[in-house]
Amino acid sequence: MSEFAVTERPAAAGRVTVVGSINIDHVVVAAKFPSPGETILGQQALVTLGGKGANQAVAAALAGARVTMIGRVGADAEGERARAGMARHGVDTSGVAVVDGVDTGTAWITVAEQDNTIIVVSGANHRWPDSGNPLAGTPGSEDDVVLAQLEIPFGVVTRAAEACRGRFLLNAAPAAELPDELIARCAVLIVNEHEQAVVAGLPEEDGIEAAHRRLRERGAGAVVTTLGPAGAVITDFDGSTARVPAIPAPEVVDTTGAGDAFAGVLAARLAAGDPLREAARWASAAGSLAVRAPGAQESYPDRETLRRTVLGSPC
Ligand code: ATP
Ligand code: RIB
Repeated sequence: MSEFAVTERPAAAGRVTVVGSINIDHVVVAAKFPSPGETILGQQALVTLGGKGANQAVAAALAGARVTMIGRVGADAEGERARAGMARHGVDTSGVAVVDGVDTGTAWITVAEQDNTIIVVSGANHRWPDSGNPLAGTPGSEDDVVLAQLEIPFGVVTRAAEACRGRFLLNAAPAAELPDELIARCAVLIVNEHEQAVVAGLPEEDGIEAAHRRLRERGAGAVVTTLGPAGAVITDFDGSTARVPAIPAPEVVDTTGAGDAFAGVLAARLAAGDPLREAARWASAAGSLAVRAPGAQESYPDRETLRRTVLGSPC
């Protein structure tokens, strides 16, 4: 495995289109996770903006990309709050449809012991047409990056991958087994260690390089496995493997959405023209900064903070 340097590149040229979930996160912070059947007292309760798709869209926009979000919310105040949150960061939300008769998605999150547990109630995130191109109406060019996750119906993800004219990135979260046809459409597959084991169909003990080899044999162009405080390992388009460091956090406040910060910024930097290894350095820095504050979107760095962290000096 090799290390590498990062160079400066201009603002994003391509566009990032995120196809994914939009949630309102209900967060409780506690000293420990309760066991089944146990009641404990929490320290704090928060309602924040989330959803893997929305989080990744915001992270990409904050990193400087032009971002379009395609997703679904209910006809309720939560849906409007989630949409407005993305728009505030410059995300084009014209692809966010309001669905009658169903609630905006929610996530119920416990933060404890420098980790979290999450239960998602999908709501509108699972109300899509059964057919049609999810990317219809977006500009779509060969420079563009389309980024999806697995909190929306599988068929929508597959149709987005088929319709993508640029590079299709899949963050396979929550973990699921994937057909070869979808893996083969992934320019970059992004997973954490647990997701990697499920998607590759190999136990974690077999190691990251074996899993990446298997996924590339099944058609993925490149594979990235994120490793929390240990950073990430990437296997590039040419089959070479490199480790990307994380930045140690003075205090780990809340890891929720660190993986989304990573995926969103990776997409933004690839759209800007970075090689994968450089893009992964920016992405890892974004993930590391995101664990220092509560919530997902609220914890993401803006472009200048990210730039200072990666390159070490102001513009
Ligand atoms: P989540 O599901 O909580 O959003 P994930 O499991 O998908 O996260 P991680 O591997 O935990 O993703 O984190 C993504 C990136 O964030 C890592 O590659 C790393 O760069 C950064 N990161 C995560 N946790 C830490 C930490 N404790 N300290 C520093 N950096 C971290
Ligand atoms: O990845 C973190 C996200 O997962 C949270 O924001 C929550 O909404 C769930 O979708």
